[in-house]
Amino acid sequence: MKIGIIGAGNIGGNLTRRLTALGHEVAVANSRGPHTLTALAEETGATPVPVEEAARGAEVVVVTIPLKAIPDLPKGVLDGAADGVAVIDTGNYYPKQRDGRIAGIEDEGLTESRWTERHLGHPVIKAFNGTYAQDILDRHRPAGAPDRQALPVAGDDEAAKAKVRALIDELGFDTVDAGGLDDSWRQQPDTPVYGLREGVDGVTKALAEASPERKPEFRG
Ligand SMILES: NC(=O)c1ccc[n+]([C@@H]2O[C@H](COP(=O)([O-])OP(=O)(O)OC[C@H]3O[C@@H](n4cnc5c(N)ncnc54)[C@H](OP(=O)(O)O)[C@@H]3O)[C@@H](O)[C@H]2O)c1
Repeated sequence: MKIGIIGAGNIGGNLTRRLTALGHEVAVANSRGPHTLTALAEETGATPVPVEEAARGAEVVVVTIPLKAIPDLPKGVLDGAADGVAVIDTGNYYPKQRDGRIAGIEDEGLTESRWTERHLGHPVIKAFNGTYAQDILDRHRPAGAPDRQALPVAGDDEAAKAKVRALIDELGFDTVDAGGLDDSWRQQPDTPVYGLREGVDGVTKALAEASPERKPEFRG
């Protein structure tokens, strides 16, 4: 598949590594421009591109930048993607450490991904947000392996969600359908499933045990 990755840090870099290893055609972008991505390109065979071009022709786009940078993305950043593109949002809101106060999340009570979706102007699928970046490289397992981890996946577009779940399976992880985007608070930072390294049963149980309350440490 043609896959665009916006953000080439911990998560974007490791997804670039694994998706190219699986034979996908990956275009990757960061904020500083393609000339700063030559090492990653040489290592993986991915094509470094300006952020405006990352989604071009892509069937899947991964948006994996700090939440506070989402409004800085160029308008129409997803224009030119393939019809039916699935957009994966890996984002988390860390108001105290990184992102500052985001009113849409704090005052309107939007889930983090709903806020991101509104900025992008395109439905998103929330995935990988609670996955350690290193685990993408180290903890993939073949289907059926007894220690295969499961990742929660939330989103409203069922076709896009199915596409993302199939891709995650290919990457070596099971998935659990965590509902629509308005349910995705169940997998945000500080929930039982966040960072959990368990299989389908453990992830399902952790999602059910989540509380919608945002603790003071996670408020801006
Ligand atoms: N680290 C983890 O283990 C982990 C796990 C799950 C989820 N997450 C979440 O996933 C997101 C990304 O995390 P990360 O740790 O991968 O971040 P990171 O290592 O800090 O990398 C961020 C990337 O985003 C790029 N970027 C920033 N602003 C941009 C813009 N306006 N346009 C294009 N690219 C831009 C940066 O490019 P430059 O370097 O050129 O500025 C960099 O490549 C965050 O929301 C984080 O909470 C992280």
